Amino acid sequence: MLETIKETAEWLRAHTELRPHIAIILGTGLGHLASEIDIVDAFPYADVPHFPVSTVEGHQGRLLFGRLGGQPVMALDGRFHYYEGYSMTEVTFPVRVMHELGIDTLFVSNAAGGMNPDFEIGDLMLITDHINHMPEHPLRGKNLPTGPRFPDMSEAYDHQLLAMARDIAAEKGIRVREGVYLGTSGPTFETPAEYRMFRILGADAVGMSTVPEVIVARHSGIRVFGVSVITDLGVEGKIVEVSHEEVQRAANAVQPLMADIFRTMIARLEA
Ligand code: HPA
Repeated sequence: MLETIKETAEWLRAHTELRPHIAIILGTGLGHLASEIDIVDAFPYADVPHFPVSTVEGHQGRLLFGRLGGQPVMALDGRFHYYEGYSMTEVTFPVRVMHELGIDTLFVSNAAGGMNPDFEIGDLMLITDHINHMPEHPLRGKNLPTGPRFPDMSEAYDHQLLAMARDIAAEKGIRVREGVYLGTSGPTFETPAEYRMFRILGADAVGMSTVPEVIVARHSGIRVFGVSVITDLGVEGKIVEVSHEEVQRAANAVQPLMADIFRTMIARLEA
């Protein structure tokens, strides 16, 4: 496993001159940010040694190296979901490679169903915390030396980055919500009873990704900032049929705002 990670990192180092400290994972329907990156090198996942290949519609599956907000960044345009059949090791492999490449700050985005009754479709939710509701833990098995056997999760989402995001949103007049993201395996969207249960568990939004990557990032000492785009509502009385297309459409409409927050934060981070 360590050898594989090192081989992929070495291949990337040999194929790009950029040495970013910041990485971005773009969620479903949120690939627009990729078009704002001044791309220096783009690698289809199929070309990257040991990389799984992304299959879900709406994901192009490219590893990008470029500049955003004046800073070198690495971006995963398309992530690997557990529901696609990838193992947790595969789902989180890119984060392992990021750590090996010297990434210290990770920006993640996803599309999610909102369960907080105050939320509306098209809201941006700064992720303040998460609930791991996936059927398998990404750190199960032999502990890799990037972090302790029993990693702390008291600040999974970096408070300083959250404060910076709040400031930037206020300056730009972008309305943001805040809340807890619950990661479930999918691929079904929730039944009304499941939305109710997740709300009772303490979640404001639910989605099928992010939590495994964030856990592995934290285990590797990478600080994390995350945003959920609320694409549908799991709120009693507001639950309607959901489709992947609608999720993509709703995500598409707000992605410029999310991109604006990400870009401005990255520009303000010290290199
Ligand atoms: N549930 C789970 N995943 C999702 C949802 C949802 O309502 N919306 C977008 N991704």
